[in-house]
Amino acid sequence: MELFDKNTRMTELVYANYLLLPVLNRFGISLGFQDKSVFDVCTEKKIDMNFFLAIVNTFHQHEYFPEDELQSFSSNLIIDYLRKSHLDFLKDSLPNIEVLLLKVVESSKSNDLKIIQTFYNKYKEELLEHIKDEEENAFPYVLELQKVYELNINPLPKHIANYSIQSFEKEHTNVDEKLFDLKNIIIKFLQPSYNDKYCNEFLFKLFQFERDLTDHARIEDKILVPKVIEIEKELKNGN
Ligand SMILES: [Fe+2]
Ligand SMILES: [Fe+2]
Repeated sequence: MELFDKNTRMTELVYANYLLLPVLNRFGISLGFQDKSVFDVCTEKKIDMNFFLAIVNTFHQHEYFPEDELQSFSSNLIIDYLRKSHLDFLKDSLPNIEVLLLKVVESSKSNDLKIIQTFYNKYKEELLEHIKDEEENAFPYVLELQKVYELNINPLPKHIANYSIQSFEKEHTNVDEKLFDLKNIIIKFLQPSYNDKYCNEFLFKLFQFERDLTDHARIEDKILVPKVIEIEKELKNGN
């Protein structure tokens, strides 16, 4: 399995997987690498290199998922990355998808395409609700919990003592399924009364977005949540 390490040239990383480009941006990394290695760029930008490598490697190799290592990073670091991803979804991925969707709809003479738009709007609404919930409830709870844990605050503040991460972090299955259905309607059922090339572009973007979201949800479900459960156990059992 090809894994990137501290000596990997940044250019090699991009050539190996150009889908990593938005991931690099989330770390504040832009192109123009010359011969710089992962180590050089992380040192220059003051990025936690082990966290960076864990994130790019898990994104690149789906079978690679060092849960223990990932859970060892601080909640702040993990949440900072997740928040940057949310911002990317809202400011970049979704608006781009919408532009492409509009092109497909406008290229069709049939009204059938409206169903895709309606479906997409429902999907978006649910995704936005999910993200908002994490930003406003789950993440602040985790950050507060981490602080209470580090400062050894006792007794636990009420808003920490009375909640658990499971009451905040909602499952991803519903949103994931809606995105799958959206692709499936087009690929399987809809009469192709639209411009094929526009539709391909739209689908490429959906596939890419789906991959980005799956990776994101995996970090939340398999890293953040178990990590928080461990902290909760320690804090709440000791009280
Ligand atoms: Fe999220
Ligand atoms: Fe999520």
